[in-house]
Amino acid sequence: MHRSNTCGELRISDAGRTVTLAGWVQRSRKMGGMTFVDLRDRYGITQLVFNSENDQSLFEAANKLGREYVIQVTGVVAERSNKNSNIPTGDIEIIATGLKILNKSDVPPFTIEDETDGGDDLRMKYRYLDLRRPAVRKNLELRHRMAFEIRRYLDSKGFLEVETPVLIKSTPEGARDFVVPSRMNPGQFYALPQSPQTFKQLLMVSGFDRYFQIVKCFRDEDLRADRQPEFTQIDCEMSFVDQEDVLQMFEGLVKHIFKYVKNIDFTEPFPRMTWADAMRLYGSDKPDTRFGMEFVELKDLTENSGFAVMDDAPYVGAIVAPGCAAYTRKQLDKLTDFVKRPQIGAKGMMWVKLETDGSVKSSVGKFFTDDQLKGWLERGNARPGDLMLILAGETMKTRKQLCELRLEMGSQLGLRNPQEFSCLWVVDFPLFEWDEETQRYYAMHHPFTAPNPEDVDMLDSNTGEVRATAYDMIVNGNELGGGSIRIHDSELQDKMFRLLGLSEEDAQYKFGFLMNAFKYGAPPHGGLAFGFDRFVSILAGLDSIRDVIAFPKNNAGRDMMIDAPAEIDDSQLDELCIKVDIDEK
Ligand code: AMO
Repeated sequence: MHRSNTCGELRISDAGRTVTLAGWVQRSRKMGGMTFVDLRDRYGITQLVFNSENDQSLFEAANKLGREYVIQVTGVVAERSNKNSNIPTGDIEIIATGLKILNKSDVPPFTIEDETDGGDDLRMKYRYLDLRRPAVRKNLELRHRMAFEIRRYLDSKGFLEVETPVLIKSTPEGARDFVVPSRMNPGQFYALPQSPQTFKQLLMVSGFDRYFQIVKCFRDEDLRADRQPEFTQIDCEMSFVDQEDVLQMFEGLVKHIFKYVKNIDFTEPFPRMTWADAMRLYGSDKPDTRFGMEFVELKDLTENSGFAVMDDAPYVGAIVAPGCAAYTRKQLDKLTDFVKRPQIGAKGMMWVKLETDGSVKSSVGKFFTDDQLKGWLERGNARPGDLMLILAGETMKTRKQLCELRLEMGSQLGLRNPQEFSCLWVVDFPLFEWDEETQRYYAMHHPFTAPNPEDVDMLDSNTGEVRATAYDMIVNGNELGGGSIRIHDSELQDKMFRLLGLSEEDAQYKFGFLMNAFKYGAPPHGGLAFGFDRFVSILAGLDSIRDVIAFPKNNAGRDMMIDAPAEIDDSQLDELCIKVDIDEK
């Protein structure tokens, strides 16, 4: 045994015991004839004392220890005169009697502390050192505990975890596939699953009834703080259920995990909002409902003013920022610049202030009377001291811009506390999305999503208006998960493929296996998948899912540590019958 105890374990009640610890040198301080070393392992930090009066050669050896040396120390547990109440072992120290260097270390490229001096790229390159930092390690500990508890919970509800293949055929879900060439089948490729969607449906056909899997998924899409090219889902499917059954089951899971991790009780059912309302009131299908500031529509109150920006716009929408009438010209200009950023794309922003004395001031005062402006403020339930911010333009575009402005104001006003949680279901998504560029419909969720039974008649006549039995769970403006009731009828599935512009041959080539399976008694079924990385990062109060993934990729999709992706040998390419011909442009 290298050690009798861990570095997080010893307390005042252990005083007088002789112990052996092993770990990494976090830091050392020389104070006269004494050297103090903080020894760290996964479990905590313990202070070691090397006293020149006790043992001069041991003291000298201790003075030569560098940061991150791996050492083994024997000594006696003693009460500390200078206690540190910030750490659980802060009442004691080890008076060292023996020291063995198990391994030396180069000077690490950044400090291995919670507040490190290392930038993002450096920490990713040396991720194994970054993972030594307690703050990062804690995130992975939380991830482990959550995965464990999710498995336990779903097992208690009769779900079976079944593994599905990673080398599959492309199942388009809106992103690009990663593909893998097959040596044994030259010229042919596997795709990595964007999700196990079709497999979990096949498991329902097989009668598994309740399936789940904590599973890696792969999507070649533009990366953001909440997106990685490989990420983990809690993927679930159930037979003989309707939408209500699925929502109940997984609301139960989410509430259980909130209680388990954060000791938060959600006693009320999660609110449900239709997609149409979410777009109308928040301009987003994933509204952050930690705060109000819902949109107010003003088009009917702004007509025929002679002010072209509003007259020509099909949509005029506003938010009321409480207590912001005191915003200065400079602050308002900054907000205007914010909405004009290319990523947001508004042409400009208008504002009306309801001053504390009840008077109004506005950037569009030239075109409207005070009474008219007061009418707008009234519609927005503005109170003296409030500020109304207004955008005008094409309906959906402007709503999205107003959504960004609302989130920005929420942040400026401190209304987006990461330790406060607001969950809701968004339901009644449209089944299809029209794409101007390709002039065709796409499945808003995926092609296996069932239409709302009330809307089936409209599939041909009013395709764009058909609602799906699809739902998303939203937490603090993040899409935590989503799913749907599936089509289990091969004829309806066939029709769906047709509406999505797939020819019979295409559909047969891509999804023949599923349509065939549906001919052999497919039960009604539905399910959903949660983004597990997102779930952990939301509960940890973090901005990026990278912080809860042991070895994440950067925004260019690179693993900086192993330097991947990388070129492969000509011999490997030959075996795969592949020629690389990179277009210089
Ligand atoms: P969907 O595509 O909505 O549904 O994905 C489910 C959840 O997975 C998470 N997620 C991601 N997390 C990190 N990085 C990504 N690139 C990424 N993409 C998605 C999100 C999302 O809500 N098969 C369906 C589920 C179903 O219908 O049952 C599916 O994959 O949290």
